[in-house]
Amino acid sequence: MVETVQSWEVPIAREDDIVLVRRKARALAQERGFDAFAAAALTTAASELARNVWVHAGGGKAIIEELTDGYRTGIRMTFVDEGPGITDVERVLQGGFSTARSLGLGVSGTRRLVEEFDLQTAPGRGTRVVIVKWTRF
Ligand SMILES: Nc1ncnc2c1ncn2[C@@H]1O[C@H](COP(=O)(O)OP(=O)(O)O)[C@@H](O)[C@H]1O
Ligand SMILES: [Mg+2]
Repeated sequence: MVETVQSWEVPIAREDDIVLVRRKARALAQERGFDAFAAAALTTAASELARNVWVHAGGGKAIIEELTDGYRTGIRMTFVDEGPGITDVERVLQGGFSTARSLGLGVSGTRRLVEEFDLQTAPGRGTRVVIVKWTRF
């Protein structure tokens, strides 16, 4: 059974908030004993997804949760916005597709850095991305 130990909500209302989300992810991963590689993966994922909320949706929020399954610590990060949503989810997940003329590797790269990844979106109604990363035994 997975339980939430603590949670934090970070609004993404200005560009600098991306840095706050990134810092919180890194600090929590380090405090909870994630190895350097896992902490870096989570930090990178957090900053890519927070940036997407800011750049593609004009703002939203990040919810950061510390989880436990009784043995390991998990960090779940949920990114929520009420922006335009994503029309072509398959292409975005595949990677290399961007409406911002950038590399389009944020979502696809992020997916490979975490253990759980869920993206829900509806055109005109927003996007919700949930990622989870666990410590090793
Ligand atoms: N939160 C979001 N709201 C709306 N569109 C998004 C969101 N996140 C990603 N997208 C869409 O998915 C595309 C790919 O995202 P990503 O892989 O991060 O690449 P990039 O941000 O470099 O374009 C974006 O160009 C954008 O069209
Ligand atoms: Mg991006």
